[in-house]
Amino acid sequence: MAETLVITGESRQEKYEQLLPQIAALVAGERDLTANLANIAAALRQTFGFFWVGFYLVKENELVLGPFQGPIACTRIAFGKGVCGTSWKEAKTIVVPNVDEFPGHIACSSDSKSEIVLPAVVGGNVKLVLDIDSDRLSDFSDVDAHYLDQLMKLIASLY
Ligand code: SME
Repeated sequence: MAETLVITGESRQEKYEQLLPQIAALVAGERDLTANLANIAAALRQTFGFFWVGFYLVKENELVLGPFQGPIACTRIAFGKGVCGTSWKEAKTIVVPNVDEFPGHIACSSDSKSEIVLPAVVGGNVKLVLDIDSDRLSDFSDVDAHYLDQLMKLIASLY
């Protein structure tokens, strides 16, 4: 396996189209979940330059910080709290165009302006969430939700 990404597309959609098969190939050769999540976080940040990309894993009754790329972040998030805890509770994708307008948003960094969080659901249970933060307002659209949802299905298949 070549440990390089080849992304030539210019639009975000083109980049996702190129990135997702490469992530699938990357994780196909490795069975360790932590290793795969670490590379997925790196691949997303490397491709799109997002401010923060990472995973929070469901452990006992809270979310615990997992592999990520970016500045240091909050380590534990309670069920139903913040964007991540809400995505876990509702088992659904949440797009936040302006974090200051999301009630209960947990600010790990004041540089984060918008955010998308998606759950990986296995057998009806949320196993983890992917959290991506941008330093730009309204940085996430249906395009991100669509392709990242495909990524979450791939991640769910790793369990
Ligand atoms: N903003 C998130 C917390 C995690 S950090 O953004 C990395 C939330 O409200 O759940």
